[in-house]
Amino acid sequence: MSEQMETTLNSSVLKGLPEPVAPSELSAEPAGLDAVLQSLFQENVGDFRNYKRSSLRRRVIQRLRALDISSYADYVGLLKADPDEYAALHAILTIKVSEFFRDPTYFALITRILKEEYSDGGKGLRAWCCGCATGEEAYSLAILLSEHLLPERAAISRVFATDVDAGALDTARRGEYRHEYMENVSEEFKAKYFIDGGVTADKSITVAESLRGLIRFGTLDIVTGHAFSRIDMLFCRNLFIYFNKKLQSDVFAKFHYALAPGGLIVLGKAEVIPAAYADQYQRVEMGLGVYRKRRSGR
Ligand SMILES: C[S@@+](CC[C@H](N)C(=O)[O-])C[C@H]1O[C@@H](n2cnc3c(N)ncnc32)[C@H](O)[C@@H]1O
Repeated sequence: MSEQMETTLNSSVLKGLPEPVAPSELSAEPAGLDAVLQSLFQENVGDFRNYKRSSLRRRVIQRLRALDISSYADYVGLLKADPDEYAALHAILTIKVSEFFRDPTYFALITRILKEEYSDGGKGLRAWCCGCATGEEAYSLAILLSEHLLPERAAISRVFATDVDAGALDTARRGEYRHEYMENVSEEFKAKYFIDGGVTADKSITVAESLRGLIRFGTLDIVTGHAFSRIDMLFCRNLFIYFNKKLQSDVFAKFHYALAPGGLIVLGKAEVIPAAYADQYQRVEMGLGVYRKRRSGR
C-alpha cells in the first residue's frame, strides 16, 4: 500500500470526528513541529530532526486531530505528561509499508546476479536489509538465496534484517501473513517456503523454519546506531525518501563502511547515492537503485 493510500485510509477513519485543528494553521507553524521533534530527541525516543518535514508534519497533524488537540505546544505538554504518547508518536512517524517481492524487477536482477556470481561453493553471503519493516523483503531475499545458492553455501549465509520499530519486528519474527497480501509469491514458493495457516488470523500462511534459519532480526536505528561490516548485499529501499540530504549522506557513510569491496547496495527506485560517493559506485542497471561498490576505492 502506498503512503498516500495509507494516509487516505487514515483520514477516512477520522471522518465524522470534529475537526478542531485547521491543518493549514499548524502547517504554518514550523517551530511548533520542531519542538515536537526536539522533545522526542531529548527523551531518547528517536531522532527525526533530519527527516523530511512534509511527511512528518502530515502525520503529527493527523495525531493532533485524533486527540482533539489544537496546538503543537499543547501536544508537547501531553507528551511530557504521558510517556506512552512518545511510543505512539514514534510508531506513527515510521511508515512500515512493505510487501513480498516488492518491485519484482529488483528480484529478477538479484536472481541474475546470484546465478552469475554466487553459483559456486564459495564463502557465505552476508546480506543486510536495513529498514526491513514487517519482514517481507528479508524473507523474499532469503527465498532467492535458498533457491540459487548451493545448500552448503546457503547454510553459512545470513540475512541481517533490522528496523527501528520493535512492533514491526515482532510481526516479522512471527512470520505470519495473509494470503491476499502475497500476490507476488508464486504458488511454487508458497508450497516450498510457507506452511498453510497461522496462529493469529484465518486465511494466513506462516514462514517455514528453513527460511527463518537464514535470517537474524534485530532492532537498529540507523540514524543513531552502528552498521554491520563485510556486507555483500545491502537492501535499504524506501527509507532514504524520508530523510533530508544531510541525513542521507550521514547514513550512507555507514553503508559505505558496511559494504565489502564489490558489494551491492540496493536502494528504492526514487533513491540515489549521495553525490560525494558517486565515483566509488557503479550503477548496475538503469532505472533501478542498484549500485556496486568499486573494488578499488577509499
Ligand atoms: C517504507 S518501509 C520500507 C520497507 C522495505 N524496505 C520495503 O521497501 O518494502 C520503511 C521502514 O524504515 C524504518 N525506519 C524508519 N526510520 C528508521 C531508522 N532511523 N532506522 C531504521 N529503520 C528505520 C521504518 O520503521 C519502516 O519499517
